[in-house]
Order: sequence, then C-alpha cells, then structure tokens
Amino acid sequence: MNIYHISAECYPVAKVGGLGDVVGALPKYQNRLSVNASVIMPWYDRDFVNEHEFEAIFSDEIRLGTQLYRYQVLKNGKVLGFNLFLVKIPGLLDRKEVYGYADEHIQFIAFQYALLHWLCAKKDRQLLLHCHDHHSGLIPFFIEHCDEFEILKGTPTVGTVHNGQYQGWMDWQEAVLMPKFDWNHRGLLDWDGVINPLAALIKCCWAYTTVSEGYLEELFDEANGLETLFFSEKQKAHGIVNGIDFEVWDPSKDPLINHNYQHEEIEGKQKNKKAFCKQFGFSYRLPLFSFIGRLVYEKGADLLPLFIDDMMNTYADKLSFMVLGSGSLAFERELLNLQDAYPGRVAVKIGYDETLSHQIYASSDFLFMPSRVEPCGLNQLYAMRYGTMPIVRKTGGLADTVTDVSLGGTGISFENESVSEVSSAIGKAIAIHKRKVELNRNRKKMMEQDFSWQRSAQKYIDIYKSLI
Ligand code: ADP
Ligand code: GLC
Repeated sequence: MNIYHISAECYPVAKVGGLGDVVGALPKYQNRLSVNASVIMPWYDRDFVNEHEFEAIFSDEIRLGTQLYRYQVLKNGKVLGFNLFLVKIPGLLDRKEVYGYADEHIQFIAFQYALLHWLCAKKDRQLLLHCHDHHSGLIPFFIEHCDEFEILKGTPTVGTVHNGQYQGWMDWQEAVLMPKFDWNHRGLLDWDGVINPLAALIKCCWAYTTVSEGYLEELFDEANGLETLFFSEKQKAHGIVNGIDFEVWDPSKDPLINHNYQHEEIEGKQKNKKAFCKQFGFSYRLPLFSFIGRLVYEKGADLLPLFIDDMMNTYADKLSFMVLGSGSLAFERELLNLQDAYPGRVAVKIGYDETLSHQIYASSDFLFMPSRVEPCGLNQLYAMRYGTMPIVRKTGGLADTVTDVSLGGTGISFENESVSEVSSAIGKAIAIHKRKVELNRNRKKMMEQDFSWQRSAQKYIDIYKSLI
C-alpha cells in the first residue's frame, strides 16, 4: 500500500511548528511497519532543499483561471527514511517562508492541483492519500468531483486535524482558480458562505483524525465555527496522540546540545544548565523555567508577560525565566520589556531557533505551557524526554499526556489561565526543585516514559487498512 502524506511542512525540510515534526517522523516509523509511506509537500527555498540532491521526475502544466503554470515534481528518497516529493511552481511554490503570503490560498490551490495532476499521470493504483490540515483539505473533494482526476476517484483519504483554528477560508470568487468541479456538489466546499478547505476535508475524507483524544472531544464544543460539522461526522473520527522522533530528540545523542546525557546520569543535564545560565546571565542555583513557542493567543502568549511579571514579584530571586518564540509583535514587545525590567532573571530570544530550542529543553528545570488550545503539543513531550518538568494548562493533548505529580505523574497541571492558578503551580515547582532526591527521581521517571511513534504509527495503519 502506498501512503502519501500531503503537508505544507515536514521537518527538516521546512518546519514552523509541530505539524513539521509530525510529518517528518510519522512516515519514517510507518515504513518500519507494513506500508510504503511518502511525503508530498511544496518546494521551498530552504537550506535542506538547496543542500540535497533532488531528481526531477515529472513536469507538466496546470491552469489556474486564465493563468498557465508549469510545475515540476522533484524526488529525494535517500535521506529522510521515506520518499520526499516536492512540487515546484515558479512564482508560487518556490518561496522562502511556508506561510504568510497575501496570495497563500492560490499557493495551496496550485499545490493540490499540481500534485493530483501528477498522481493521475503516475497511474499508481494502490494508494491512499493522508491530508494534513487545511492546506491539503480540498484533495478529497477534488478527486471525487473533478472530471480531470477521474482516474483517482475512489481513492481512500484520511484527514488529520492538527489545528482546527486555522481553516484556510477563501471567498467563492477564488473557485475559478480551482480545477473544474461538478458545481452541483459545491456545498461540500462551503461553510457559512465561504470556501472552507478544513470543512471540505472533514466532509469528504473517508476518516478523520485529531492529534489527541482529548482534542477530538473538545472540537465538538469549540472548533472555531465547525463544532457541528465535527460532531456530525464523528462516526469516522479517531483521536490518535502524536509521538516524538526518538532519533532526533534523544539527549544521549543530540548533536545540538552541549553535553549529552541519559536518565541514569542526570548530572549531564546540570552541565547543560550551567553553560546555558552562563550564556544568558542567569544564576545557576535558581530553578530555570522556560517557554518555547509561537507567540499567539492559543498558546496563552498574550498572558505570558503578565504571568512572568507576577512570578518575578511573587517569587523574587527564586527563579529565572527564558522565552524563545515569535509571533504577535505586541506580545514580542511586551516580553522584551520584561527582559529590560528584570535583567539576569528574564531572557527573551525572539525568532525561530532550532538549536536553541534543543538547548532550552536540555537546560531548563521546568517548561511552562499556559495554552488555551493545544491539540496535542510536542513541547511537553520533548521536555519530559530531556528530564524537564512540564507545567501545563489542562487542555487537549496537554491533559492527555501530562499527569500531575500529586496523582503519581511527572508534571504539574492547572485548570485555568489565571494569575493565581499559575502562581500556585509555580510555587509547587519551586518547592519540588528544593527536594533534590524527589526532583531527580521524577526526572528519571519522565525520561523513561515511552512517547515514541511506534504505537501511534500503527494506529494510523490500522485505520488505512480498515478503509481499503
Ligand atoms: P505548534 O505546532 O502548535 O506550534 P507543538 O507543541 O506541536 O506546537 O510544536 C511546536 C514545535 O515547534 C516544537 O518542535 C518546538 O520546539 C518548535 N518551536 C516552536 N517555536 C520555536 C522557536 N521559536 N524556535 C525553535 N523551535 C520552536
Ligand atoms: C498543531 C497543534 C499542536 C500539535 C501539532 C502537531 O500545530 O497546535 O498542538 O502538537 O499541530 O500535531
């Protein structure tokens, strides 16, 4: 069986967040089981693409409205543990950034159109298309309702919702850019009077999955307008929690950290912390708390400055705080102000920095995640893998993967994103940090937990098999 994962991101080719991590790992682990999994993604002007050899395996043209675009499919099957196919379209799919362009909807229509055009020519019969998020959400509709893709009709499709907040909305006038479809079925593309690719995915795919069980339940109540749709399609829904790639996220081998360590030699973690504190001017003896992530409302980033400010006052001289992230300019500015207000106690690095993120997981004592919405969350899993205790708001995947120490777990959780609840969670963490024997026992325990992809990769395969 040939499984094609279709995604806007895939680590290490191009990653903005957890979608990239998942698509860069899941096919590799599936290939060690019983399927042949590949990834199809847009071509980006990125280091990975420019530094590796790709073979041009196909080229042709597609028409979007009145505009003709030449596209090319490039392949590399040697580096990632799966076949990687990149769709390149000069002027559309040849850019540096993954998201953020004003004509993003044209980019993703072209991506989906070109890849289906190529798959039709490929005449691969035994295939299943696994679409990730709204960027590939139109595919199940296109293959059923566009004459041009007749040959793919009846191909099983799986849709995975990594984040239901983003739906890829576009005005109906953009329909002229799509491959010609049966107008009688246009309702499948529509939600609330606009084209909604995520809604189209949920309506048309054969099975849909969410990246944790808890998030699936949450979507029935809060899904940025799609609650009733998720609920009405729930007979084909599955919640499957993400795993982590143990080959990339392994403190005993990680080339991006200063000192490698395993669970039985936790001193290695201290060495990382020492070097890190020196670099950022923190006091080594104080517990180090960190936040890594996109600075957006969903992650609670609007409240982060308030929380940190409160920590610096309530627990003056009892902790240090490191932030790595980028997003809303207003949140970035507020965080940088805190760095100025609390020198040597708060450090803020604005931007995306893969190496620094690994060093933060390795060096911190606690990782703080006050997310409002967290479909799965990988940061808390990486943190535990590196012996760093997660402090999380109980939501979605965070609630599924982190159990509070008071209940025999390895993290700290709180219900609401309020200053008082956060402050009490931080107080608990500072107290745990003082009890060194318990702290180290807990670190070993969290590092030994199995969050590998093995089990979840098999669960996806079971779904594929049930559809064929
Ligand atoms: P999301 O996909 O919603 O952003 P996840 O927790 O699933 O959240 O995944 C976030 C991923 O992106 C993790 O691998 C995390 O380490 C990484 N990450 C987020 N922000 C940054 C950043 N500024 N620099 C480096 N890595 C980051
Ligand atoms: C999304 C979610 C995040 C999840 C990731 C990978 O970006 O916001 O919670 O871990 O996808 O599935």
